[in-house]
Amino acid sequence: AIWNEVKGLVNTVSDPTPKKAFAADMQSFSSLLARYTTGTSEQLDWAKVKSPTADHILPYEALPQPADHVALLKKLAVVKVNGGLGTSMGMQGAKSALEVIDGSTFLDLTIQQIAHLNETHHVDVPLLLMTSFGTHEDTLRIIQKYDSVRIMPFMQSKYPRIMKDSLLPCPQHGEDDKASWYPPGHGDLYAALSRNRVLDRLLKEGKEYLFVSNSDNLGAVVDPRFLQYMIDTRAEFLMEVTDKTKADIQGGTLIDYDGTIRLLEIAQVSAEHSEEFESVRKFSIFNTNNLWIDLRVLKKVMNQGAMELEIIPTPKITDDGRSVIQLETAAGAAIRHFNNVRGINVPRSRFLPVKNCSDLLLIKSDIYYIKHGRPVLSQDRMFGTTPVVKLDDHFKKIRDFQTRLKSIPRIIDLDHLTVSGNVYFGRNVTLRGTVIIVANEGQRIDIPDGCVLENRLVSGNLNM
Ligand code: UTP
Repeated sequence: AIWNEVKGLVNTVSDPTPKKAFAADMQSFSSLLARYTTGTSEQLDWAKVKSPTADHILPYEALPQPADHVALLKKLAVVKVNGGLGTSMGMQGAKSALEVIDGSTFLDLTIQQIAHLNETHHVDVPLLLMTSFGTHEDTLRIIQKYDSVRIMPFMQSKYPRIMKDSLLPCPQHGEDDKASWYPPGHGDLYAALSRNRVLDRLLKEGKEYLFVSNSDNLGAVVDPRFLQYMIDTRAEFLMEVTDKTKADIQGGTLIDYDGTIRLLEIAQVSAEHSEEFESVRKFSIFNTNNLWIDLRVLKKVMNQGAMELEIIPTPKITDDGRSVIQLETAAGAAIRHFNNVRGINVPRSRFLPVKNCSDLLLIKSDIYYIKHGRPVLSQDRMFGTTPVVKLDDHFKKIRDFQTRLKSIPRIIDLDHLTVSGNVYFGRNVTLRGTVIIVANEGQRIDIPDGCVLENRLVSGNLNM
Protein backbone atom coordinates (compact mmCIF):
# COMPACT_ATOMS: atom_id res chain seq x y z
CA ALA A 1 0.00 0.00 0.00
CA ILE A 2 2.86 2.38 0.82
CA TRP A 3 4.51 1.94 -2.58
CA ASN A 4 1.23 2.32 -4.40
CA GLU A 5 0.54 5.56 -2.59
CA VAL A 6 4.01 6.92 -3.45
CA LYS A 7 3.62 5.87 -7.09
CA GLY A 8 0.10 7.27 -7.11
CA LEU A 9 1.46 10.68 -6.15
CA VAL A 10 3.36 10.86 -9.45
CA ASN A 11 0.12 10.45 -11.39
CA THR A 12 -1.40 13.47 -9.69
CA VAL A 13 1.06 15.75 -11.51
CA SER A 14 0.12 16.49 -15.11
CA ASP A 15 2.65 19.05 -16.38
CA PRO A 16 5.34 16.86 -18.09
CA THR A 17 8.49 18.80 -17.03
CA PRO A 18 7.81 18.98 -13.30
CA LYS A 19 6.38 15.48 -13.53
CA LYS A 20 9.69 14.05 -14.72
CA ALA A 21 11.66 15.61 -11.88
CA PHE A 22 8.98 14.65 -9.40
CA ALA A 23 8.93 11.04 -10.62
CA ALA A 24 12.72 10.88 -10.16
CA ASP A 25 12.35 12.19 -6.60
CA MET A 26 9.65 9.62 -5.82
CA GLN A 27 11.86 6.89 -7.26
CA SER A 28 14.81 7.76 -5.05
CA PHE A 29 12.49 8.30 -2.10
CA SER A 30 11.10 4.78 -2.60
CA SER A 31 14.61 3.31 -2.43
CA LEU A 32 15.30 5.22 0.78
CA LEU A 33 12.02 4.05 2.29
CA ALA A 34 12.75 0.46 1.28
CA ARG A 35 16.12 0.64 3.02
CA TYR A 36 14.43 2.12 6.07
CA THR A 37 11.69 -0.49 6.30
CA THR A 38 14.02 -3.46 5.81
CA GLY A 39 16.71 -1.86 7.97
CA THR A 40 19.29 -4.43 6.90
CA SER A 41 22.22 -2.18 6.04
CA GLU A 42 21.72 0.12 9.00
CA GLN A 43 22.40 -2.17 11.96
CA LEU A 44 25.40 -1.01 13.94
CA ASP A 45 27.29 -3.40 16.18
CA TRP A 46 28.12 -1.20 19.18
CA ALA A 47 30.97 -3.50 20.21
CA LYS A 48 32.81 -2.42 17.04
CA VAL A 49 32.33 1.32 17.68
CA LYS A 50 35.67 2.72 18.88
CA SER A 51 37.05 6.20 19.44
CA PRO A 52 38.97 7.40 16.39
CA THR A 53 42.71 6.83 16.67
CA ALA A 54 45.25 9.64 16.82
CA ASP A 55 46.23 9.20 13.17
CA HIS A 56 42.58 9.57 12.10
CA ILE A 57 42.39 13.07 13.57
CA LEU A 58 45.01 15.67 12.78
CA PRO A 59 45.29 19.05 14.53
CA TYR A 60 44.69 22.02 12.20
CA GLU A 61 48.13 23.37 13.12
CA ALA A 62 49.75 20.35 11.47
CA LEU A 63 48.42 21.30 8.01
CA PRO A 64 51.13 22.50 5.60
CA GLN A 65 51.48 26.12 4.51
CA PRO A 66 50.51 26.33 0.83
CA ALA A 67 53.25 26.98 -1.68
CA ASP A 68 51.09 28.57 -4.38
CA HIS A 69 47.66 29.86 -3.34
CA VAL A 70 46.53 30.65 -6.85
CA ALA A 71 47.29 27.18 -8.22
CA LEU A 72 45.30 25.62 -5.38
CA LEU A 73 42.32 27.97 -5.54
CA LYS A 74 41.97 27.41 -9.29
CA LYS A 75 41.03 23.82 -8.48
CA LEU A 76 38.40 24.77 -5.89
CA ALA A 77 34.63 25.23 -5.85
CA VAL A 78 32.69 26.17 -2.72
CA VAL A 79 29.20 24.94 -1.90
CA LYS A 80 26.85 26.04 0.84
CA VAL A 81 24.12 23.60 1.81
CA ASN A 82 21.18 25.91 2.00
CA GLY A 83 18.10 23.72 1.68
CA GLY A 84 17.13 23.33 5.35
CA LEU A 85 13.73 24.59 6.41
CA GLY A 86 14.91 25.81 9.80
CA THR A 87 11.78 24.39 11.37
CA SER A 88 13.21 24.53 14.88
CA MET A 89 13.44 28.32 14.55
CA GLY A 90 9.98 28.53 12.98
CA MET A 91 11.38 29.77 9.65
CA GLN A 92 9.20 30.31 6.59
CA GLY A 93 12.08 30.51 4.13
CA ALA A 94 15.88 30.21 4.14
CA LYS A 95 17.70 30.69 7.45
CA SER A 96 20.52 32.23 5.43
CA ALA A 97 18.16 35.04 4.37
CA LEU A 98 18.07 36.35 7.95
CA GLU A 99 19.83 39.64 8.52
CA VAL A 100 23.06 39.44 10.50
CA ILE A 101 24.21 43.04 10.37
CA ASP A 102 23.24 46.32 8.63
CA GLY A 103 20.92 44.69 6.11
CA SER A 104 23.44 41.95 5.22
CA THR A 105 22.14 38.40 5.45
CA PHE A 106 24.16 35.20 5.91
CA LEU A 107 24.11 34.81 2.14
CA ASP A 108 25.30 38.38 1.50
CA LEU A 109 28.18 37.85 3.93
CA THR A 110 29.10 34.53 2.32
CA ILE A 111 29.24 36.23 -1.06
CA GLN A 112 31.45 38.96 0.46
CA GLN A 113 33.80 36.26 1.75
CA ILE A 114 34.14 34.67 -1.69
CA ALA A 115 34.46 38.06 -3.42
CA HIS A 116 37.28 38.95 -1.02
CA LEU A 117 39.03 35.63 -1.65
CA ASN A 118 38.77 36.09 -5.41
CA GLU A 119 39.99 39.69 -5.33
CA THR A 120 42.90 38.93 -3.03
CA HIS A 121 44.25 36.10 -5.18
CA HIS A 122 42.92 37.14 -8.62
CA VAL A 123 41.00 33.89 -8.98
CA ASP A 124 37.42 32.97 -9.83
CA VAL A 125 36.26 30.48 -7.20
CA PRO A 126 32.56 29.80 -7.88
CA LEU A 127 29.94 29.70 -5.12
CA LEU A 128 27.41 26.88 -5.43
CA LEU A 129 24.22 27.03 -3.41
CA MET A 130 22.14 23.94 -2.80
CA THR A 131 18.58 25.12 -2.27
CA SER A 132 15.28 23.34 -1.74
CA PHE A 133 11.62 24.05 -2.48
CA GLY A 134 11.55 25.93 0.83
CA THR A 135 14.60 28.17 0.27
CA HIS A 136 14.99 28.60 -3.49
CA GLU A 137 12.99 31.82 -3.83
CA ASP A 138 14.69 33.58 -0.91
CA THR A 139 18.06 32.54 -2.29
CA LEU A 140 17.40 33.82 -5.82
CA ARG A 141 16.09 37.13 -4.45
CA ILE A 142 19.35 37.73 -2.59
CA ILE A 143 21.84 36.53 -5.19
CA GLN A 144 20.35 38.51 -8.08
CA LYS A 145 22.05 41.63 -6.67
CA TYR A 146 25.49 40.24 -7.40
CA ASP A 147 27.55 39.83 -10.51
CA SER A 148 30.94 40.04 -8.81
CA VAL A 149 30.93 36.34 -7.88
CA ARG A 150 29.92 33.38 -10.04
CA ILE A 151 26.97 31.92 -8.15
CA MET A 152 25.37 28.63 -9.16
CA PRO A 153 22.15 27.65 -7.42
CA PHE A 154 20.79 24.12 -7.80
CA MET A 155 17.88 22.43 -6.08
CA GLN A 156 17.81 19.35 -3.92
CA SER A 157 14.98 16.83 -3.80
CA LYS A 158 11.53 17.15 -2.32
CA TYR A 159 10.33 14.06 -0.47
CA PRO A 160 6.97 13.28 1.15
CA ARG A 161 6.84 13.23 4.94
CA ILE A 162 5.42 9.92 6.15
CA MET A 163 2.99 9.18 8.97
CA LYS A 164 4.78 7.78 12.01
CA ASP A 165 2.44 4.82 12.53
CA SER A 166 1.42 3.75 9.03
CA LEU A 167 4.48 5.02 7.07
CA LEU A 168 1.99 6.21 4.46
CA PRO A 169 2.91 9.48 2.72
CA CYS A 170 1.32 12.63 4.19
CA PRO A 171 0.59 14.34 0.86
CA GLN A 172 -2.35 13.16 -1.22
CA HIS A 173 -1.36 15.10 -4.28
CA GLY A 174 1.96 16.09 -5.88
CA GLU A 175 1.07 19.73 -5.44
CA ASP A 176 -0.07 19.53 -1.82
CA ASP A 177 1.11 22.37 0.39
CA LYS A 178 4.68 22.66 1.67
CA ALA A 179 3.93 21.18 5.10
CA SER A 180 3.55 17.71 3.58
CA TRP A 181 7.09 17.66 2.15
CA TYR A 182 10.68 18.02 3.28
CA PRO A 183 14.17 18.34 1.82
CA PRO A 184 15.91 15.07 2.76
CA GLY A 185 18.92 16.44 4.65
CA HIS A 186 22.27 17.76 3.41
CA GLY A 187 23.36 14.22 2.49
CA ASP A 188 21.22 14.82 -0.60
CA LEU A 189 24.07 17.07 -1.82
CA TYR A 190 25.80 14.32 -3.81
CA ALA A 191 22.69 13.18 -5.66
CA ALA A 192 21.71 16.81 -6.30
CA LEU A 193 25.17 17.65 -7.70
CA SER A 194 25.03 14.66 -10.04
CA ARG A 195 21.43 14.97 -11.11
CA ASN A 196 21.71 18.68 -11.92
CA ARG A 197 24.92 18.02 -13.89
CA VAL A 198 26.80 20.39 -11.60
CA LEU A 199 29.43 17.79 -10.81
CA ASP A 200 30.20 17.24 -14.51
CA ARG A 201 30.35 20.98 -15.14
CA LEU A 202 32.84 21.51 -12.32
CA LEU A 203 35.07 18.66 -13.50
CA LYS A 204 34.98 19.96 -17.04
CA GLU A 205 36.12 23.35 -15.75
CA GLY A 206 39.12 21.69 -14.10
CA LYS A 207 37.79 21.85 -10.57
CA GLU A 208 39.23 19.10 -8.38
CA TYR A 209 38.10 19.97 -4.88
CA LEU A 210 34.84 20.99 -3.24
CA PHE A 211 34.55 22.79 0.09
CA VAL A 212 31.15 22.14 1.68
CA SER A 213 29.67 23.95 4.68
CA ASN A 214 26.37 25.01 6.23
CA SER A 215 24.91 28.26 4.94
CA ASP A 216 24.49 29.55 8.49
CA ASN A 217 28.15 28.95 9.38
CA LEU A 218 29.98 32.20 8.66
CA GLY A 219 33.13 30.79 10.27
CA ALA A 220 33.60 28.34 7.38
CA VAL A 221 35.93 30.40 5.19
CA VAL A 222 38.17 28.98 2.47
CA ASP A 223 41.57 28.02 3.82
CA PRO A 224 44.06 26.69 1.23
CA ARG A 225 45.98 24.72 3.87
CA PHE A 226 43.34 21.98 3.60
CA LEU A 227 43.87 21.82 -0.16
CA GLN A 228 47.64 21.65 0.17
CA TYR A 229 47.25 18.79 2.63
CA MET A 230 44.95 16.91 0.26
CA ILE A 231 47.43 17.27 -2.57
CA ASP A 232 50.45 16.32 -0.46
CA THR A 233 48.84 13.24 1.07
CA ARG A 234 46.28 12.27 -1.58
CA ALA A 235 43.54 12.50 1.03
CA GLU A 236 40.15 12.13 -0.67
CA PHE A 237 37.88 13.52 2.05
CA LEU A 238 38.57 15.76 5.05
CA MET A 239 36.04 16.51 7.76
CA GLU A 240 36.63 19.53 9.98
CA VAL A 241 35.87 18.51 13.54
CA THR A 242 36.20 20.55 16.71
CA ASP A 243 36.46 19.90 20.44
CA LYS A 244 33.17 18.99 22.04
CA THR A 245 31.81 21.11 24.88
CA LYS A 246 28.79 20.33 27.03
CA ALA A 247 26.65 22.23 24.54
CA ASP A 248 27.49 19.95 21.60
CA ILE A 249 27.27 16.46 23.06
CA GLN A 250 24.55 15.60 20.54
CA GLY A 251 26.70 16.46 17.51
CA GLY A 252 27.75 13.73 15.07
CA THR A 253 31.19 12.25 15.72
CA LEU A 254 33.82 10.31 13.83
CA ILE A 255 34.25 6.72 14.91
CA ASP A 256 36.59 3.89 14.12
CA TYR A 257 34.31 1.08 12.95
CA ASP A 258 36.13 -2.13 12.23
CA GLY A 259 39.17 -0.15 11.15
CA THR A 260 37.36 2.33 8.91
CA ILE A 261 36.32 5.89 9.68
CA ARG A 262 32.63 6.65 9.81
CA LEU A 263 30.35 9.43 10.93
CA LEU A 264 28.04 8.45 13.78
CA GLU A 265 24.92 10.49 14.50
CA ILE A 266 22.93 10.31 17.72
CA ALA A 267 19.90 9.08 15.73
CA GLN A 268 21.83 5.86 14.94
CA VAL A 269 22.57 5.13 18.58
CA SER A 270 20.19 3.12 20.74
CA ALA A 271 19.06 4.61 24.07
CA GLU A 272 21.30 2.27 26.06
CA HIS A 273 24.45 3.65 24.38
CA SER A 274 23.50 7.30 24.09
CA GLU A 275 25.34 8.26 27.27
CA GLU A 276 28.52 6.71 25.90
CA PHE A 277 27.97 8.50 22.58
CA GLU A 278 27.66 11.83 24.39
CA SER A 279 30.69 11.23 26.61
CA VAL A 280 33.39 13.82 25.96
CA ARG A 281 36.02 11.29 27.04
CA LYS A 282 35.12 8.60 24.48
CA PHE A 283 34.27 10.98 21.63
CA SER A 284 36.04 14.25 22.25
CA ILE A 285 35.29 15.88 18.89
CA PHE A 286 32.24 16.43 16.68
CA ASN A 287 31.52 17.18 13.04
CA THR A 288 31.28 20.84 11.99
CA ASN A 289 29.95 19.83 8.55
CA ASN A 290 32.85 21.68 6.91
CA LEU A 291 33.97 19.05 4.38
CA TRP A 292 36.73 19.00 1.75
CA ILE A 293 36.04 16.52 -1.02
CA ASP A 294 38.04 15.28 -4.03
CA LEU A 295 35.61 15.79 -6.91
CA ARG A 296 37.22 13.22 -9.20
CA VAL A 297 36.81 10.54 -6.57
CA LEU A 298 33.24 11.72 -5.91
CA LYS A 299 32.49 11.23 -9.60
CA LYS A 300 33.86 7.68 -9.42
CA VAL A 301 31.79 6.90 -6.34
CA MET A 302 28.64 8.27 -7.99
CA ASN A 303 29.31 6.20 -11.10
CA GLN A 304 29.11 3.08 -8.98
CA GLY A 305 25.42 3.84 -8.31
CA ALA A 306 23.55 5.85 -5.71
CA MET A 307 25.81 6.65 -2.76
CA GLU A 308 24.27 4.94 0.26
CA LEU A 309 24.34 7.04 3.40
CA GLU A 310 23.04 6.04 6.84
CA ILE A 311 19.39 6.98 7.25
CA ILE A 312 18.53 9.46 9.98
CA PRO A 313 14.84 9.11 10.80
CA THR A 314 13.76 12.49 12.13
CA PRO A 315 10.45 12.68 13.99
CA LYS A 316 8.44 15.90 13.60
CA ILE A 317 5.02 17.10 14.71
CA THR A 318 3.08 18.95 12.02
CA ASP A 319 1.28 22.22 12.77
CA ASP A 320 -1.98 20.31 12.89
CA GLY A 321 -0.53 17.92 15.47
CA ARG A 322 0.23 14.81 13.39
CA SER A 323 3.33 12.72 14.19
CA VAL A 324 5.40 12.28 11.06
CA ILE A 325 8.87 11.05 10.14
CA GLN A 326 11.38 12.49 7.69
CA LEU A 327 14.03 10.13 6.36
CA GLU A 328 17.18 12.21 6.06
CA THR A 329 20.89 11.70 5.38
CA ALA A 330 23.98 13.70 6.38
CA ALA A 331 26.71 14.91 3.99
CA GLY A 332 29.50 13.86 6.36
CA ALA A 333 28.34 10.23 6.25
CA ALA A 334 29.88 10.05 2.76
CA ILE A 335 33.30 9.79 4.41
CA ARG A 336 33.01 5.98 4.47
CA HIS A 337 32.94 5.86 0.67
CA PHE A 338 36.34 7.54 0.33
CA ASN A 339 39.91 6.40 0.99
CA ASN A 340 42.64 8.10 2.93
CA VAL A 341 40.23 10.25 4.92
CA ARG A 342 40.93 12.37 7.99
CA GLY A 343 39.26 14.48 10.60
CA ILE A 344 41.02 17.82 11.04
CA ASN A 345 40.58 19.31 14.49
CA VAL A 346 39.97 23.02 13.84
CA PRO A 347 39.52 25.99 16.19
CA ARG A 348 35.94 26.86 17.21
CA SER A 349 36.11 30.02 15.14
CA ARG A 350 35.51 27.87 12.02
CA PHE A 351 32.20 26.71 13.44
CA LEU A 352 29.66 29.44 14.21
CA PRO A 353 26.31 27.76 13.54
CA VAL A 354 22.92 29.29 14.12
CA LYS A 355 20.76 26.46 15.41
CA ASN A 356 18.49 28.63 17.55
CA CYS A 357 17.71 32.22 18.43
CA SER A 358 20.32 32.28 21.23
CA ASP A 359 22.99 31.59 18.56
CA LEU A 360 21.41 34.29 16.39
CA LEU A 361 21.62 36.84 19.20
CA LEU A 362 25.33 36.14 19.64
CA ILE A 363 26.23 36.43 15.97
CA LYS A 364 24.25 39.69 15.63
CA SER A 365 25.77 41.20 18.79
CA ASP A 366 28.77 43.42 19.48
CA ILE A 367 30.77 40.31 20.49
CA TYR A 368 31.67 40.08 16.82
CA TYR A 369 32.59 42.57 14.15
CA ILE A 370 32.47 41.60 10.49
CA LYS A 371 35.63 41.62 8.39
CA HIS A 372 35.28 40.72 4.69
CA GLY A 373 32.04 38.91 5.53
CA ARG A 374 33.55 36.92 8.38
CA PRO A 375 32.61 37.43 12.05
CA VAL A 376 35.69 38.12 14.17
CA LEU A 377 35.60 38.13 17.97
CA SER A 378 35.86 41.72 19.17
CA GLN A 379 39.19 42.74 20.74
CA ASP A 380 37.19 44.47 23.48
CA ARG A 381 36.05 41.08 24.68
CA MET A 382 37.98 39.88 27.72
CA PHE A 383 39.49 36.36 27.67
CA GLY A 384 38.43 35.65 24.05
CA THR A 385 35.38 33.61 25.04
CA THR A 386 31.75 34.01 24.00
CA PRO A 387 29.05 34.41 26.65
CA VAL A 388 26.57 31.66 27.44
CA VAL A 389 23.12 32.78 26.26
CA LYS A 390 19.99 30.83 27.10
CA LEU A 391 16.73 32.22 25.79
CA ASP A 392 13.76 29.99 26.59
CA ASP A 393 10.95 28.87 24.29
CA HIS A 394 9.29 32.31 24.34
CA PHE A 395 12.16 33.22 21.99
CA LYS A 396 12.16 29.98 20.03
CA LYS A 397 10.54 31.16 16.82
CA ILE A 398 12.24 33.84 14.79
CA ARG A 399 9.03 35.96 14.86
CA ASP A 400 9.04 35.94 18.67
CA PHE A 401 12.74 36.79 18.76
CA GLN A 402 12.14 39.76 16.46
CA THR A 403 9.20 41.13 18.43
CA ARG A 404 10.69 40.53 21.87
CA LEU A 405 13.96 42.38 21.15
CA LYS A 406 13.59 45.95 19.87
CA SER A 407 17.32 45.92 19.28
CA ILE A 408 20.13 43.50 20.09
CA PRO A 409 21.47 44.26 23.59
CA ARG A 410 25.10 45.23 24.05
CA ILE A 411 26.74 42.13 25.50
CA ILE A 412 30.47 42.76 25.14
CA ASP A 413 30.92 42.38 28.94
CA LEU A 414 28.36 39.63 29.44
CA ASP A 415 29.32 36.21 30.79
CA HIS A 416 25.97 34.55 31.15
CA LEU A 417 22.39 35.39 30.23
CA THR A 418 19.30 33.37 31.05
CA VAL A 419 15.90 34.67 30.00
CA SER A 420 12.76 32.80 30.87
CA GLY A 421 9.08 33.67 30.54
CA ASN A 422 7.25 36.59 28.96
CA VAL A 423 10.12 39.08 28.61
CA TYR A 424 10.55 42.01 26.21
CA PHE A 425 13.74 44.03 25.64
CA GLY A 426 13.70 47.73 24.81
CA ARG A 427 16.19 49.53 22.63
CA ASN A 428 19.89 49.96 23.57
CA VAL A 429 19.90 47.63 26.55
CA THR A 430 23.32 46.71 28.00
CA LEU A 431 23.89 43.42 29.78
CA ARG A 432 27.05 42.76 31.84
CA GLY A 433 28.35 39.89 33.96
CA THR A 434 25.66 37.37 34.85
CA VAL A 435 22.10 38.42 34.13
CA ILE A 436 19.07 36.26 34.84
CA ILE A 437 15.61 37.46 33.92
CA VAL A 438 12.65 35.35 34.97
CA ALA A 439 9.02 36.26 34.40
CA ASN A 440 6.80 33.87 36.28
CA GLU A 441 3.56 32.42 34.96
CA GLY A 442 1.12 35.24 34.20
CA GLN A 443 3.81 37.97 34.52
CA ARG A 444 5.38 40.14 31.87
CA ILE A 445 8.76 41.86 32.21
CA ASP A 446 9.71 44.81 30.01
CA ILE A 447 13.37 45.78 30.09
CA PRO A 448 13.19 49.55 29.37
CA ASP A 449 15.06 51.35 26.58
CA GLY A 450 18.64 52.20 27.56
CA CYS A 451 18.58 49.95 30.64
CA VAL A 452 21.92 48.64 31.98
CA LEU A 453 21.81 45.37 33.89
CA GLU A 454 24.99 44.18 35.57
CA ASN A 455 25.09 41.00 37.66
CA ARG A 456 21.35 41.16 38.21
CA LEU A 457 18.58 38.72 38.87
CA VAL A 458 15.36 40.24 37.60
CA SER A 459 12.07 38.64 38.47
CA GLY A 460 8.73 40.31 38.84
CA ASN A 461 8.65 44.07 38.24
CA LEU A 462 11.72 46.05 37.29
CA ASN A 463 12.19 49.04 39.58
CA MET A 464 14.88 51.12 37.97
P1 UTP B 1 20.39 22.28 10.24
O1 UTP B 1 20.82 21.06 10.93
O2 UTP B 1 20.55 23.57 10.97
O3 UTP B 1 18.90 22.08 9.81
O4 UTP B 1 21.06 22.32 8.84
P2 UTP B 1 17.81 23.08 9.31
O5 UTP B 1 16.99 22.34 8.35
O6 UTP B 1 18.37 24.38 8.88
O7 UTP B 1 17.02 23.36 10.65
P3 UTP B 1 15.93 22.47 11.39
O8 UTP B 1 16.63 21.27 11.92
O9 UTP B 1 14.83 22.19 10.42
O10 UTP B 1 15.50 23.42 12.46
C1 UTP B 1 22.43 22.45 8.65
C2 UTP B 1 22.66 22.95 7.25
O11 UTP B 1 22.20 22.00 6.31
C3 UTP B 1 21.32 22.59 5.40
C4 UTP B 1 20.74 23.79 6.13
O12 UTP B 1 20.28 24.74 5.21
C5 UTP B 1 21.93 24.25 6.95
O13 UTP B 1 22.78 25.07 6.18
N1 UTP B 1 20.32 21.60 4.97
C6 UTP B 1 19.58 20.95 5.90
C7 UTP B 1 20.13 21.37 3.64
O14 UTP B 1 20.80 21.96 2.77
N2 UTP B 1 19.20 20.47 3.25
C8 UTP B 1 18.43 19.81 4.13
O15 UTP B 1 17.58 19.02 3.71
C9 UTP B 1 18.63 20.05 5.50
